[in-house]
Amino acid sequence: MRLKEERENILQTVGDTPIIFLKDVSKVLKTRVYAKVEAFNPGHSAKDRIALYAVNKAEEEGRITEGGTIIESTSGNTGRSLAMICALRGYKCVLFSTTKISFEKQAILKALGAEVHICPASAKSTDPESYYTRAQAYHDRTPNSIYVNQYYNDCNIEGHYYSTGPEIWRQTEGKLTHYVACVGSGGTISGTAKFLKEQNKDVKVFGVDAFGSVLTKFHEEGVFDESQIRPYKLDGVGKNIIPGTVLFDRIDKFYQVNDAEGLQRARTLARTEAILTGPSGGAAIEALYQMKGEFKPTDCVVVVLPDHGTGYLSTLYNDEWMSSNGFLNTEEDQVELVENLNGLKQGY
Ligand SMILES: Cc1ncc(COP(=O)(O)O)c(C=O)c1O
Repeated sequence: MRLKEERENILQTVGDTPIIFLKDVSKVLKTRVYAKVEAFNPGHSAKDRIALYAVNKAEEEGRITEGGTIIESTSGNTGRSLAMICALRGYKCVLFSTTKISFEKQAILKALGAEVHICPASAKSTDPESYYTRAQAYHDRTPNSIYVNQYYNDCNIEGHYYSTGPEIWRQTEGKLTHYVACVGSGGTISGTAKFLKEQNKDVKVFGVDAFGSVLTKFHEEGVFDESQIRPYKLDGVGKNIIPGTVLFDRIDKFYQVNDAEGLQRARTLARTEAILTGPSGGAAIEALYQMKGEFKPTDCVVVVLPDHGTGYLSTLYNDEWMSSNGFLNTEEDQVELVENLNGLKQGY
């Protein structure tokens, strides 16, 4: 017997995430702002979409068969999505992450049965110890394996072209004027923007980057400038390489965010809109404030919140961690945080 509403497995709940009106952000920016809340995916992030798309494609093309191994270099979210798929389909999941990964994210990967290798976050991409090099080397020596390699895999773009893009267009009833998303591998912004600009070429697409990443300068000047690279805490935002999956020509402008502002904005969002997002979601909201002059009251803005805040309870949502990293300990920060909260409550 089958129930009408049954899902065959949890992967059938990937996608179709809601867009949610952000009342306070909209009030301050004097336009209508909606969040595409990707935490509604079963793996709590947008990466479920591309992981499922990439594995389905590899299976269709016969690149992986029963008993195979799925390998990825990941800051945690793609790994979590792949670990779910592996648990259901019987593949071995081998993940390479960096010392930047939070305790919670690592624990989740292991809970889902993945093997996790931690590599130094400071290693250059070509360093034998970097998470990219080690993932590639593992793939090279493992028969019947795929290395998803989201930074250079077109599936990362297509997964969003065929799901996130059409969803946003449908959900905004064709009224969308601005699309704002963080850029890490670039899959989210590129696939979605490609679809949206095909529907209406006037839709503006803004990328969110971190200070310490090379993407903004590359977009503005076509230069890969290694001197831009420095450590930062906004997981998933920006890169120290130029991924093959960023369609720079579909992005109108980049905005860069610093750690303190991005993290504090996520904390404010939790207390004003009751949406618990990760550091990249905070960075995206912070970038919106930088874009304020771009919007008219009649506009319709969609911002992607890529993942759920529960992955960051020991970091972003831990006062001690915030203070010891210098993100809450200056009087100015404290005052600004309180002013932000009060200002939002009063509508400025
Ligand atoms: C938490 C988080 N936010 C944002 C992104 C950026 O998305 P994309 O890789 O599609 O550019 C990532 C990617 O790793 C991520 O893990």
